[in-house]
Amino acid sequence: MSERSPSPTDTTKPLLRALAGRPVQPPPVWLMRQAGRYLPEYREVRSRVSGFLELCYTPELAVEVTLQPIRRYGFDAAILFSDILVVPDALGQPVRFVEGEGPRLEPVRSAEEVARLEPDRLHEHLAPVYETVRRLRRELPPEVALIGFAGAPWTVATYMVEGGSSRDFARVRGWGVAEPVGFGALIRLVTEATIEYLVKQVEAGAEALQLFDSWAGVLSEDEFGRWAIEPMRQIVDAVKARCPGVPIIGFPRGAGVMYARYVEEAGIDAVSLDSSVPLRWAAETLQPRVTVQGNLDPLLLLSGGEPMKRGARRILEELGGGPMVFNLGHGVIKETPPEHVAELLEIVRGSGG
Ligand code: CP3
Repeated sequence: MSERSPSPTDTTKPLLRALAGRPVQPPPVWLMRQAGRYLPEYREVRSRVSGFLELCYTPELAVEVTLQPIRRYGFDAAILFSDILVVPDALGQPVRFVEGEGPRLEPVRSAEEVARLEPDRLHEHLAPVYETVRRLRRELPPEVALIGFAGAPWTVATYMVEGGSSRDFARVRGWGVAEPVGFGALIRLVTEATIEYLVKQVEAGAEALQLFDSWAGVLSEDEFGRWAIEPMRQIVDAVKARCPGVPIIGFPRGAGVMYARYVEEAGIDAVSLDSSVPLRWAAETLQPRVTVQGNLDPLLLLSGGEPMKRGARRILEELGGGPMVFNLGHGVIKETPPEHVAELLEIVRGSGG
């Protein structure tokens, strides 16, 4: 990876070494949604607050739930405990989480509604998140890297326009097709807010950043260039200009063969692979350019046993020749037995049979 500039970040941390393009043995490991409802200690803290967003906006509790999986398993990285939907919430589009149904927002579907959003409130609203990052940086063990994150603009916009989770993304894609300029204004607003939000996270102590484009897989080739790659490239350029050397991981979930173009064009340091990405193809096509992260199927972690161990070993074999970060292909499923995570870590770290 000689064409990549050396990172000024702390290279004693395995995650940061791997993100700088160096193979690390054993590879650093963390899991998407490593903090969450599969852990009894998370459920205990969660029961103390009425709403999920209250947890995200209470630094003391957000720090506690971020640290829980670090204490229990000794992961190589902690990911800030928050949610991608704090950005629309901060822009003046209030988000509620309805138990068992997911997020709910009053939809934004026109240029007038975009104009009513309030980007000026962003930092004031998100101040508790920055405080959480500052405290985490003080409290984490020295070898554990702190990852900040945001949703990618396309994925955040799906929730803003649909008003919650969606099956077919008809309204948001329809708006982009019918009025690319109007929808583009929403994407631009979210892109700019995301840049400001991520820069503040780095200034508060985040050492690497991940952008979650969870719904990138529903886009056509043309839309993918416009709504997934282009905003991502703008975010990467702007954040790196203001925070030189901070490594950025992109996660265009479900992008299939478009992963190749994403890696080529988005300017990222690492790419997170969903579980459908073939390992050999990733090793040959993506890993010569960026660090690859992934991609054990969360269902294998849920069911555990030999299939999980075989799956994990195959990832280590296929991707272990180059820079990699071990992770899942998506978040931990809430029914996952916590013991399975301990067994997985033994495999990754070379002490599991
Ligand atoms: O440990 C971590 O990974 C850090 C915390 C984190 C959460 N959400 C906590 C959370 C992160 C990185 C996210 C990202 C996120 N949030 C994404 C992108 C990744 C992905 O899963 O595709 C998306 C799409 C969201 C939006 C979101 N947040 C939805 C749709 C839901 C409801 C569905 C559900 O699982 O309940 C959430 C809620 C949420 N975010 C929970 C957690 C722990 C569960 C809420 C609770 O505890 O009550």
